Amino acid sequence: MGSTERSSVHALQDSRYEQLVQAVVDYAIYMLDPDGYVVSWNAGAQRIKGWRAEEVIGKHFSLFFTDEDCAEGKPAWLLERALSTGVAQDEGWRVRKDGTRFWALAALDVIRAPDGEVIGLAKVTRDITDRREAAQQLDAMRAQLFQAQKLEALGQLTGGMAHDFNNLLTIIIGSARLALNSHDPQRVRRLLEHVLDAGERGTQMTQQLLSFARQKALKFGRIQLPTLIDSIRLLIGQALPRAVELQIRFDESLQDVEVDGGQLQMVLLNLIFNARDAVGEVGVICLQASNCRLDGEIDDLHGDFVRLEVSDNGHGIDAKVLPRIFEPFFTTKAFGKGTGLGLSQVYGFARQSNGAVRVSSTVGQGTCMTLYLPAFAPAPDSTH
Ligand SMILES: Nc1ncnc2c1ncn2[C@@H]1O[C@H](COP(=O)(O)OP(=O)(O)OP(=O)(O)O)[C@@H](O)[C@H]1O
Ligand SMILES: [Mg+2]
Repeated sequence: MGSTERSSVHALQDSRYEQLVQAVVDYAIYMLDPDGYVVSWNAGAQRIKGWRAEEVIGKHFSLFFTDEDCAEGKPAWLLERALSTGVAQDEGWRVRKDGTRFWALAALDVIRAPDGEVIGLAKVTRDITDRREAAQQLDAMRAQLFQAQKLEALGQLTGGMAHDFNNLLTIIIGSARLALNSHDPQRVRRLLEHVLDAGERGTQMTQQLLSFARQKALKFGRIQLPTLIDSIRLLIGQALPRAVELQIRFDESLQDVEVDGGQLQMVLLNLIFNARDAVGEVGVICLQASNCRLDGEIDDLHGDFVRLEVSDNGHGIDAKVLPRIFEPFFTTKAFGKGTGLGLSQVYGFARQSNGAVRVSSTVGQGTCMTLYLPAFAPAPDSTH
């Protein structure tokens, strides 16, 4: 190929390239000289900014910036950055010929000759006003939704609490009234037992609420899990239907944990009762404990932990419900069957114990709730 042929091929490529740039209407593509004066102007630039080529060529590109940006020296600053690093990007308001503003996404790239000399800068600007407005609307909607959800949770909280306490008070007042009017000592005794029972349930409810709100100080101690579980075994046995099997498995050299033992008993009962409600009359509930080391993979926890799992082969948890199960008063159980406080207590306990709780569930197959509890670390020997 002769040199005239080659240059005509280049000329053809150049003109095609020019046509291409000219045809683009969604982007303002133009060139600046190294001092920031406009050298070329495409159809997109005219469409977006309103000026025709003959009106802007030779003008300084600060023409497109707002007065505020010019006062702050933004055009010069962008130019300087592009020239020193090869590229500068910016997002912000720009001004059209008619004075209206649009939100621009702009890139400024240095163009060099083969010998390295700076020939000019390529400026590509896009009008993303619509996109920005859509994003802002979405943010506003999200904020509103979040607020609404918070209010709903709060409404549920107060509504649920009022309702449950009301039930208990009805029992207490009714029984006390009956007892006052009764002359049968045995009946009076039974009624007083109702009063006591309702009162204790109320206390339990406030305890659970307080530990969710993290206002209750836990009594940390060294707890042996097998012993603790033994102490509630009888209670669990009474609460499970006959055809529900409870399997218990411990690691051989299971470490002790450092938690509030009384609270942990409540937590285990809550988890096991949830499992019982999920399996129905026939099923398997498995309680498993093993040592584990965490390196930040769970809630950024580090160190020695005991992983305590309560799993069941019950109906599982619907994906729509799953994000809400730890909320206080969230329940899917029938009226009077659940208060929705069980898992909020579990959650509060796990956090306060410097541990964590995780759930995994498959609808139709079952659920596994996993607690991570800090292993007991003996205090450093101070006798030396
Ligand atoms: N093992 C499980 N299997 C299936 N669903 C579960 C399980 N554990 C919890 N859930 C779901 O999470 C919801 C919230 O549980 P949570 O223990 O907080 O309240 P509850 O059991 O409904 O009432 P409460 O424990 O206060 O009597 C339950 O209503 C249920 O829908
Ligand atoms: Mg429960």
